[in-house]
Amino acid sequence: MREIVVTGGAGFIGSNFVHYVVKNQPDVFVAILDKLTYAGNARNLEGLPNDRHKLVPGDICDAELVDNLLEKADAVVHYAAESHNDNSLSDPSPFVQTNLVGTYTLIEAARKKGIRFHHISTDEVYGDLPLRDADGNSESFTDTTPYNPSSPYSSTKAGSDLLVRAWVRSFGLKATISNCSNNYGPYQHIEKFIPRQITNLICGVRPKLYGSGENVRDWIHTNDHSSAVWKILEEGRIGETYLIGADGEKSNKEVIELLLKLFGKSPDDFEHVNDRPGHDLRYAIDSSKLRAELGWTPEFTDFEKGVEETINWYKTNEDWWRSQKAEVEAKYALSGQ
Ligand code: NAD
Ligand code: DAU
Repeated sequence: MREIVVTGGAGFIGSNFVHYVVKNQPDVFVAILDKLTYAGNARNLEGLPNDRHKLVPGDICDAELVDNLLEKADAVVHYAAESHNDNSLSDPSPFVQTNLVGTYTLIEAARKKGIRFHHISTDEVYGDLPLRDADGNSESFTDTTPYNPSSPYSSTKAGSDLLVRAWVRSFGLKATISNCSNNYGPYQHIEKFIPRQITNLICGVRPKLYGSGENVRDWIHTNDHSSAVWKILEEGRIGETYLIGADGEKSNKEVIELLLKLFGKSPDDFEHVNDRPGHDLRYAIDSSKLRAELGWTPEFTDFEKGVEETINWYKTNEDWWRSQKAEVEAKYALSGQ
């Protein structure tokens, strides 16, 4: 591959992927298509050499722009999305537009050009799981788990996955899909759980836990997501779905307690706030197919170390998030969160 288009490459996971590709694939040029919504930030691409990437500000729903951009490309890696569950509850419309119409626009263009397409999706399409039982036994999501999304966000992601699958079967689109668990790391928007609490703690505000905090998320460092996506792009079988996860299950309460420890605070120095309507209880990924078939393994599996590095990133890059903090918190205050 000589040139790839990365949609949403100025967002959290997309920009980490662009950095990963520029660092590890010296012959690949990356064209980034990003609408630069509230969640996108051109600064996430600072430091990348100009002869290795370009940022094209624009909408994935703009068919003419997409057609032109794909002219020279060998592959599309599609990260662009409206990505936050809480926002999808207050206004679902951009989720339907970007996640469904945007994905449709991209796969139409990719099939006309006959180029490789990789669709980035989420474990949330499968709905949620019960908590582990007293012996620690529990099920995990696999690529055969039935779709059962709960929120406007996850239902539009599920719909976009189904579009991609249909385009593979009906039109021979050369596509793969990956469904990953919760990412953490640098450049994550401060509306999301971990950076919201880190920036609260930096500001001297108590972390906010939805409901009881027993909800479990399966954390993966965003660098491990990037290496898995590259592996699938190069070696994945067309039409296949790969689940990406690093066995990082933690309850939200455990994550808040870890953050409090790393800030030198007492483990109960947090606030319970209103729960999210329809809040998924537990996510857990079985990534054995990806590991066995493509030989992928996660590297950044020391969660405490990864969180400590992430805290340091937000401390060092206060000018990256500070101007958004008041607005984000004002929005959460409206829903008692
Ligand atoms: P993000 O919200 O941080 O970034 C999304 C990016 O997409 C932003 O740069 C935004 O400007 C861009 N964008 C939005 N609408 C657009 C449009 N119409 N046209 C062009 N660009 C547009 O999201 P993220 O957390 O980095 O998630 C990226 C992808 O990964 C999403 O598809 C999401 O569903 C998926 N995913 C996220 C996680 C997670 O933990 N965050 C886990 C699994 C999968
Ligand atoms: O599982 C993958 C998904 O992970 C991705 O598809 C989504 O794009 C991504 O946003 C993330 O979704 P979640 O809803 O799990 O992430 P969020 O950061 O919003 O919340 C994580 C958990 O923390 C969730 O159980 C809700 C809870 N929470 C969240 C916030 C913002 C709190 O307890 N307090 C908070 O302030």
